[in-house]
Amino acid sequence: MEKKKALNEYLSKVAKQMVFIRDAELLSKLVIKIVAERLNVKHVGLFLYNKKAEEYVIKLSQGKKGLKIPVNFTKIKKNSNLIKFFYNRALPSKNKLSVSEREINLLKRKNKNDKLFLKQLEELEDAMFIYGAKLVVCGFFRNKIPVIFFIGEKENGKSFTKDEVSFLNILASDVVMAIQNTNLFENIKNQLDKNKQILLNIVQTLATVLDVKNSYTHGHAERVMKYSLIIMKYIPKNILKNYKNFEDTLKISSLLHDIGKVGIPEDILNKVGKLTEEEFELIKKHPAMGSEILEPIKEFHEVSLGVKYHHERYDGKGYPYKLSGTNIPLIASIISVADSYDAMLNDRPYRKGLAKDIVIKEIITNKNKQFSPVAIDAFVKAVEYNQM
Ligand SMILES: [Fe+2]
Repeated sequence: MEKKKALNEYLSKVAKQMVFIRDAELLSKLVIKIVAERLNVKHVGLFLYNKKAEEYVIKLSQGKKGLKIPVNFTKIKKNSNLIKFFYNRALPSKNKLSVSEREINLLKRKNKNDKLFLKQLEELEDAMFIYGAKLVVCGFFRNKIPVIFFIGEKENGKSFTKDEVSFLNILASDVVMAIQNTNLFENIKNQLDKNKQILLNIVQTLATVLDVKNSYTHGHAERVMKYSLIIMKYIPKNILKNYKNFEDTLKISSLLHDIGKVGIPEDILNKVGKLTEEEFELIKKHPAMGSEILEPIKEFHEVSLGVKYHHERYDGKGYPYKLSGTNIPLIASIISVADSYDAMLNDRPYRKGLAKDIVIKEIITNKNKQFSPVAIDAFVKAVEYNQM
């Protein structure tokens, strides 16, 4: 009785820990260690169901002395007789199932005329022999079996007590619950990643639409994103740690930095000759117009900062807000360098693109004038590592 209480207490402690484990491999390790230690068995093998491959794969196989089966190599097909046996036997026993070597012998004698069933039993017997098991325990979830334990002989050679078998049954269902939690967590994460990708695709499409309007800046937004991300890589980590999801925000913001130009007539954007003062005043409005476009999207607040301030200068002589120094958000400082770098490298209606070494020199010379020192230091490192 005392032993049962101890087992139960131990079990509830373990179950609580398992819920937090998000890694099936780690979970398997923990469970196998528990079984091997608490029940003093020579060997434990844990098979997990792989839905895609429709088979059970051994995830861990371990024992104090016993044999070790190569992980991920040993597989049991879902449509094998062995698995059919568990499914057939499971339902009447209310989703709790364990079979010992002794029980198999009894079943064989009882059903000696049922050829199909005998075949299933023999296959199970063979598997138990291969995996050195004396007892097999299944974990259930909605009439499915995601987990199967093959439990080896106890060190003292005795058979498993009722309490021990029930301990294993509960442990198996705890593992199943933990796996379900892990799967759920993974599904949510995958869905979020998918949504993120969809969002990025939409933003990329938007940026391309804008590029088409601007006849001379083909691919500009994509390149500014590329350069911005490279510069970001060389910004010290202790600075970046102050921002949440900086990389994703920078990706979107750099792609959309000129989104405000949708409000500017094409003949001004593509004008070959010198812009009139009036025209230039209109162009200077594009950062503000861009941030206004993004304003209704609450989640894009950080994104809009990059759009709004990408033409500000560190010395305060930029436009349209004349912000200076560290008042300019980091995201805008990075985009500003990336934007100028790409603009100088490529042809404009009024001039040809410049050579790369000249552009790099020009950018670096403008540290503390046009550009923030943090962004330029990162830019210099990126150049040193041949990334620009
Ligand atoms: Fe711009």
